[in-house]
Amino acid sequence: MKLEMKSEAGPAEEKSQLPPMQLMQVLHTPWAFYAVRAAVELDLFSVIKQGKKTACEISSQANIDPRGAEVLLNSLVALGFLSKHEDKFENAEVAETYLIPNTPLFMGHYIKINAEMQKAWYQLADVIRSGKPVMEVNQQIVAEEFFPALASSIFPLNFFNANVVARELKIDELAKGSRVLDVASGSAVWSIPFAQANPEISIDALDFPQVLNVTKEYANKFGVDSRYKFIGGDWHECKLESNSYDVVILGHILHSEGRVRSEQLIAWCQEILKPGGQLVIAEFFLDKEKTGPVPPALFAINMFLATANGCVFSQEELESILKSKGFGKSRRLEMPGYGKESPILIASK
Ligand SMILES: C[S@@+](CC[C@H](N)C(=O)[O-])C[C@H]1O[C@@H](n2cnc3c(N)ncnc32)[C@H](O)[C@@H]1O
Repeated sequence: MKLEMKSEAGPAEEKSQLPPMQLMQVLHTPWAFYAVRAAVELDLFSVIKQGKKTACEISSQANIDPRGAEVLLNSLVALGFLSKHEDKFENAEVAETYLIPNTPLFMGHYIKINAEMQKAWYQLADVIRSGKPVMEVNQQIVAEEFFPALASSIFPLNFFNANVVARELKIDELAKGSRVLDVASGSAVWSIPFAQANPEISIDALDFPQVLNVTKEYANKFGVDSRYKFIGGDWHECKLESNSYDVVILGHILHSEGRVRSEQLIAWCQEILKPGGQLVIAEFFLDKEKTGPVPPALFAINMFLATANGCVFSQEELESILKSKGFGKSRRLEMPGYGKESPILIASK
């Protein structure tokens, strides 16, 4: 087909050789999110788990339109959340693990919060223009409103990884009386597997008072609360004894603190760790040029929307901060649950 129209960059005819698929993929990616969100809202994965298998059975049990059920279910097969043999649908393992309400790793709450966060993303051009975030989740008042729900909803994202870290750090071999500090504990997702791995250690969890209610709830749910001490407040104003912890955990906190406060936080950790103690950092990492991988590159925008100074670091940047604050060489642990962009960095004092 010959295109007569001319663009500023030259005849459209020449440009028409480039298929628009890369752009179309980006434009349509949100549809995948909406499909999963609708299926969770309609509780279709539970209906399938209960034994309804055909689109007709599922639609009748869920009380939804049969044709609607069919298109949605087929799209969930395409996305890998269901499989289909003949006319029967089955949950894929990922759906069984994360998309069924009242199961330990249900991610429906995170899906809801994500949908809320998208309202901020709709304002992205304005925020980039003005440089002013839509909220500042690192301010205590906002944090106490925002984080109880968020911290609880992201528990399933890291529980698997936290168990890997507990094994890799040989937490079960820590001496009796060893002390762990979980900074910005949220749901205590990073420290609960430590407490489970070794009944002789104690954990201090530090977060804003409202969020600590969530920490307590989870520690209690996993039966380890008697080994926790809860410290309410901003880490920045919290004086803890020097050389007193064997392990300090920074679980997804640096990205909301930004460069300057992250440097201060790492120095603070160095001060309170015992010589030989270990700092565990869970973060999203960008590559050196900060141009990839895609998830952390987009997460950097998320931080721009939600904080005044938040950012996503490259591993090299964090290692140089660690070195400047007196830590030895750090080692990187790949997390099977996340892939290349969210490893764990472990540094020794
Ligand atoms: C993204 S959540 C991470 C929670 C948990 N560590 C995890 O990985 O699931 C960030 C947490 O940092 C806490 N937080 C943010 N700024 C803080 C500060 N200045 N002092 C203490 N906690 C803070 C928030 O309340 C929230 O629980």
